Amino acid sequence: MNRLLISLSLSLHGRALLMRKTGVSRDDVAQRLDDAMSRNVDLSSGRIMGSMCCSPHPIAVEAHMRFVESNLGNPGLCEGTLELENEVIKMLGNLVNLPDPYGHFLSGATEANITAMYIAKKITGRRKVIFPRSAHFSVHKAINLMNMEPVKIGLDDDHRLSLDDLEGSLDDDVAMVFTVAGTTELGTVDPIRRVGEMVSDVPIHVDAAFGGFVLPFLEEMGRLEERFHGWDFSVDEVSTMAIDPHKMGLATIPSGALLKRQGLDMGTLAVPSPYLTMPISYTLSGTRASGAVAGAYAVMSHLGREGYLEVVRSVMDETTYLKKRLRELSMEPVIDPVMNILAVHHHDPISVQERMREHGWFISRIEGPKALRFVIMPQVFRGALDDMLGDLERVLKAV
Ligand SMILES: Cc1ncc(COP(=O)(O)O)c(C=O)c1O
Repeated sequence: MNRLLISLSLSLHGRALLMRKTGVSRDDVAQRLDDAMSRNVDLSSGRIMGSMCCSPHPIAVEAHMRFVESNLGNPGLCEGTLELENEVIKMLGNLVNLPDPYGHFLSGATEANITAMYIAKKITGRRKVIFPRSAHFSVHKAINLMNMEPVKIGLDDDHRLSLDDLEGSLDDDVAMVFTVAGTTELGTVDPIRRVGEMVSDVPIHVDAAFGGFVLPFLEEMGRLEERFHGWDFSVDEVSTMAIDPHKMGLATIPSGALLKRQGLDMGTLAVPSPYLTMPISYTLSGTRASGAVAGAYAVMSHLGREGYLEVVRSVMDETTYLKKRLRELSMEPVIDPVMNILAVHHHDPISVQERMREHGWFISRIEGPKALRFVIMPQVFRGALDDMLGDLERVLKAV
């Protein structure tokens, strides 16, 4: 059992797990919460460099709290939130070149990926899902749930979906080609425009959970190489996309969205919901968090394109800085970072990761190729990077 699980089970054993007959005071509750909070690692400390979650913008937190009690799963009771949801979906669609945006606000990209696969299965009646080996593990959850047939394909030399492998895998039973715009491990972008040229009558899903709030702004700044362009709904064959405001969108958790091209059969997931205020339920989740919708609406409206351009410019500058400093420590990037994710080769990333954790740094790693992985989120500031690099230099000497 790993250390986290051991400490979890020890702390639970020391505590009464049953609900008390008589409740405790607010102060006692607050004390317990403070205690729990003190054992969480604070994202805003800048010490977490392996997470794709953001410290939400204060305006998102405030908006989230104002809408905390309403349930978007019963939208007739919260028409205001429904309007906000539609506005968020329009803003998101506009960001990723979706004409006439349509979609739903969900708990995150896992739910969006599952829903997209469900739709693809229903409308095609086929069973195979082709996905690159770099796809997020949520693709396996979706495939298992839907009893689909997985067709995992390889990557090219740039760690992007291999078009040769794709060509060899296409047949009449393919329900979906699952692509990624912003891979979890390396932050690269599949050649989605080329995939579109190769498929006919097969829906392409784009998992832009992370990239959705980065790539549009990189493009606008002229910092996205031409070969990565054509990753969104500008490619006609793209039918669905997952995008997460709770990652680079600076929104509160849980904020995800599934965007769909108009004309796609919207009735696929719909079931009657007779006891609610709307006759049809369209989403996998029943009850849905209005707070997250309000949070995403607030931060997206407040920052606007210029605000996000600044956020993306800043994280990319920090990523370039980190790359330079790691090179000085003889650590070479696996790929030149496309986004604010940087992986550098190391023969023993597990040991480095563990020792860095002892110093209070949470960095990540990948296995193929062996590398340390850093996600330079907006809350990871220069001072934290410098302090981390100091400890890393010492750790590297010992490993
Ligand atoms: C590319 C990609 N897709 C899907 C997910 C899953 O997102 P969530 O945890 O919000 O469901 C992640 C999470 O990091 C991701 O990086």
